[in-house]
Amino acid sequence: MKSIISSLFALSLLSLSSAHIQCHFPAIFNFGDSNSDTGGLSAAFGQAGPPHGSSFFGSPAGRYCDGRLVIDFIAESIGLPYLSAFLDSVGSNFSHGANFATAGSPIRALNSTLRQSGFSPFSLDVQFVQFSNFHNRSQTVRSRGGIYTTLMPEANSFSQALYTFDIGQNDLTAAYFANKTVEQIGTVDIPEIISQFKNAVTNIYNQGGRYFWIHNTGPIGCLAYVIEWFPLKASDFDSHGCASPLNNLAQQFNHALKQAVIELRTFLSEAAITYLDVYSAKHELFVHAQGHGFKRSLVSCCGHGGKYNFNKHIWCGKKVTVKGKEIYIGKPCDEPGKAVVWDGVHFTQAANKFIFDKIVTGLSMACHRH
Ligand SMILES: *[C@@H]1O[C@H](CO)[C@@H](O)[C@H](O)[C@H]1NC(C)=O
Ligand SMILES: *[C@@H]1O[C@H](CO)[C@@H](O)[C@H](O)[C@H]1NC(C)=O
Ligand SMILES: *[C@@H]1O[C@H](CO)[C@@H](O)[C@H](O)[C@H]1NC(C)=O
Ligand SMILES: *[C@@H]1O[C@H](CO)[C@@H](O)[C@H](O)[C@H]1NC(C)=O
Repeated sequence: MKSIISSLFALSLLSLSSAHIQCHFPAIFNFGDSNSDTGGLSAAFGQAGPPHGSSFFGSPAGRYCDGRLVIDFIAESIGLPYLSAFLDSVGSNFSHGANFATAGSPIRALNSTLRQSGFSPFSLDVQFVQFSNFHNRSQTVRSRGGIYTTLMPEANSFSQALYTFDIGQNDLTAAYFANKTVEQIGTVDIPEIISQFKNAVTNIYNQGGRYFWIHNTGPIGCLAYVIEWFPLKASDFDSHGCASPLNNLAQQFNHALKQAVIELRTFLSEAAITYLDVYSAKHELFVHAQGHGFKRSLVSCCGHGGKYNFNKHIWCGKKVTVKGKEIYIGKPCDEPGKAVVWDGVHFTQAANKFIFDKIVTGLSMACHRH
């Protein structure tokens, strides 16, 4: 009897103290879209040219941004190098993780090519297949010894790693660009998209992943490329200039995602899953940009013309000929550090730092079950 009591006591002491143990992640495996692409789409389809990367890397670095992304700040913060893109066969080092995200990736596979629709073929199910391949083949390669042991993760990194996700935005915009109504998307598409998301997390869990870090999706109705795509009615805009139907759609998705996380916590009994409300951080930045030291919110830093310094035919970094005259969008705004939106689609490094600062406290707890 006495021994049962004392071991129960020891157990509860253990669980009490484990909540205070600092998490240590030897690797990050990331899945997502352009919000966290560190070179995947660039490797597969051609580099994102200058002035991408200009504020921090000094030259293009595979990111659709002037500098670092939230995933870069996460890596820095836990003391790991920036993630190499799985698709990048030149100079990559996967010793502390790999990045399967590519710009334009949806959760759900689309029936169109990148050229037709602008969306990436590397949907979340494909990213999982790539991860699964990587999990296996990296160990075969590592066992060759020598330099390979410094390029590939240790076998036990896979169960100790942080698995990060930032994906869903392109599923919403793809459905929206296909002229589906917000009601249709909410009742038909979102449940299907979320179900595929749950499959991906479950598949990773079944391969030994335990620590999951899941960003919700941002207020897409505040992004110029979404606003400009279709003529919206004046009544669609809120007092901050964001398109309410689109922001409502993002919130519907986030509500379903949060429910999915709650379900996954029940089903995956050994998983620690952290849900990060990135929407609120981004929305706060859009509506109180000046209060946070920013000078422009909806208006892009790098782009061309119109109300938002954004033209869907003349993107940041592109060269185009209009009426015989060459236009090159190679020069960003004077102070990228004071702009929220980089190129009408993506956030600036300064905005990413702001968003990261809002979620960083979660990192020290991300290895504990909630
Ligand atoms: C793609 O086509 C398949 C087969 O017709 C269909 O089942 C699926 O729903 C389509 N996907 C999307 C995203 O429309
Ligand atoms: C990798 O896959 C091969 C072939 O399917 C299998 O024989 C091997 O056991 C796997 N290795 C690991 C480390 O999972
Ligand atoms: C890969 O990165 C790790 C961690 O930064 C480093 O220790 C290792 O030397 C690198 N390997 C090579 C071949 O550069
Ligand atoms: C959506 O509607 C717009 C405007 O009515 C039209 O130009 C476009 O072709 C439609 N797109 C699709 C995929 O049906």
